[in-house]
Amino acid sequence: MKHTALITGASSGIGKELAKIHAERGGDLVLVARRADQLNQLKQALEQQYGVTVEVIVKDLTKPLAPKEIYDEILQKNIQIEYLINNAGFGGRGKFHERAWEQDLAMINLNVVALTALTRLFLPDFVKRNSGRILNTSSTASFMPGPLQAVYYASKSYVTFFSNAIAEELYDTNVTVTNLMPGATESEFAKTSGMDKTGLFDKTASAYSVALDGYNGMLKGKLDVVSGLTGSQKVMMAAIPFMPKKMLLKQVRQMQEVN
Ligand SMILES: NC(=O)c1ccc[n+]([C@@H]2O[C@H](COP(=O)([O-])OP(=O)(O)OC[C@H]3O[C@@H](n4cnc5c(N)ncnc54)[C@H](OP(=O)(O)O)[C@@H]3O)[C@@H](O)[C@H]2O)c1
Repeated sequence: MKHTALITGASSGIGKELAKIHAERGGDLVLVARRADQLNQLKQALEQQYGVTVEVIVKDLTKPLAPKEIYDEILQKNIQIEYLINNAGFGGRGKFHERAWEQDLAMINLNVVALTALTRLFLPDFVKRNSGRILNTSSTASFMPGPLQAVYYASKSYVTFFSNAIAEELYDTNVTVTNLMPGATESEFAKTSGMDKTGLFDKTASAYSVALDGYNGMLKGKLDVVSGLTGSQKVMMAAIPFMPKKMLLKQVRQMQEVN
C-alpha cells in the first residue's frame, strides 16, 4: 500500500472529503466508521476512480476495545499506516445537567478517548520509523468554554492541547501532529449534534474546503490549522483572550440558543 492513511469518521462530511483528497493523490486508505454501506460505497468509488486500495473497518469507536481492535486488524493485514487522521466526532446541545449522560459519555469516549488511544497505538511505530503524520480534527470550539455544549467544547479543548503538546514532544523527529480547527462546516454534524436550528450554522464552509486545508496543513507539518471562519468570526476569535470571561460565556451561550 502507498502512503496509507487511516481516517476515522470517513463515512460522511470532512472525513469523507479527506479520503477523496488522499485517494486523488494516489494514496491508499483504511476507512473507519459505523455505517458499512457508506464506507463500502466510498471504497468502490475511490478504487474505481483512482486505482488505489481501500480497506474498510466498520467500528463503533465509543467502545473501549475498538481502537486496539483496529490496530490489531491493521497489523494482521500487514498495512503500514503513514497518516493517522483522527476525525470522527460528534457534539450535543443542551444544559449539561439535563442531557442524557450516556450521550455525553459516548461523546467523551469518541472525541477524547478513542483519539488518544489510536494515537498511543500508532505513534510508537511512527517514531521508530521516524516518519508519519497525525491529523486530529478539533474545532474552533476549543478556543473557549461552550455553555449549552459544555462537554463538546471541553472535548475539543482537550484535542487541541493534547495535539499541540505531543507535537512538541516530537520536535526531534520527522513525525508531525497537526490540529485542525474547523468553524461551522456543512456536514451531518449540525443535525446529529442538534445544532441545525442555531445561528451558528447560518453560514457554513464546505466540508471539502475544510478537509483540503487540514490535509495540506498536515503535509506541511503545521501545528494548527483554522479553517472555514467568516470575517466576523475571525475578529471574534482574535478578541477572545482580551474579553472578560463572563461576557464571552454569555455570547457563546446566546449563539447556541435555538432560533
Ligand atoms: N461540521 C462542523 O461544523 C464541525 C466544526 C468543527 C469541528 N468539527 C469536527 O469535525 C469532525 C468531523 O465531523 P463532520 O463535520 O464531518 O460531521 P459528520 O458528517 O457528522 O461526520 C462524523 C463522522 O464521524 C463518524 N462517527 C460518529 N460516531 C462514531 C462512532 N461512534 N464510531 C465511529 N465513527 C463515528 C460518523 O460515521 P458513522 O455515523 O458512520 O459512524 C461520520 O463519518 C468531528 O470531529 C467534528 O467534531 C465539525
